[in-house]
Amino acid sequence: MSTESSSPSGRPWKRYLLYLIGAGVASVLLIQLVPYGHSHTNPPVAQAAVFKDPRVAEMVATSCGDCHSNLTKYPWYSNVAPGSWLLANHIGEGRSKLNFSEWNKPQPPVEDLAEQINSGEMPGWQYTLMHSSAKLSNADKKVLIAGLVQMYRDTPPAGIK
Ligand code: HEC
Repeated sequence: MSTESSSPSGRPWKRYLLYLIGAGVASVLLIQLVPYGHSHTNPPVAQAAVFKDPRVAEMVATSCGDCHSNLTKYPWYSNVAPGSWLLANHIGEGRSKLNFSEWNKPQPPVEDLAEQINSGEMPGWQYTLMHSSAKLSNADKKVLIAGLVQMYRDTPPAGIK
């Protein structure tokens, strides 16, 4: 005699699908417990780079500041792993290369900054995807680089690395 439970109907795959979805949701929840990337406290500003032209100061703040200063504004996805991990790693790396909030420490030569800006390497396209105001037009790039050169001349960092 055939029973419903043994019939090879279309049912089992549905259970597997539910199982997969459940496992997916569970792992997304579980990775939130990893104690990395949760701390969104910025280190104090030791010595801020000083820009004479407020336009340049603003460009630096909106296009570079989140990764190259201690004044990072953390977006919503910084609260959710794995976005939080990528971000924490990225910000740590960015600050270690160049930090406009630690002008009392050696920083890269202004030529390196100009090169990153001119090549369009910085700010990265993934970043401008989420922060459209960080995009730099060619005219912006010229103003920004001139402002950086002037700032390095007037108030250079403690050293060049
Ligand atoms: C989304 C984060 C982010 C933004 C925004 C950003 N950077 Fe970076 N930057 C990084 C990271 C991460 C590194 C280190 C890894 C690398 O060199 O690619 C870095 C490295 C650098 C370096 C060192 C490159 C080298 O020679 O190793 C310079 C100079 C620099 N950035 C300039 C800038 C300037 C100027 C801006 C603004 C116009 C900017 N960055 C915007 C993340 C960022």
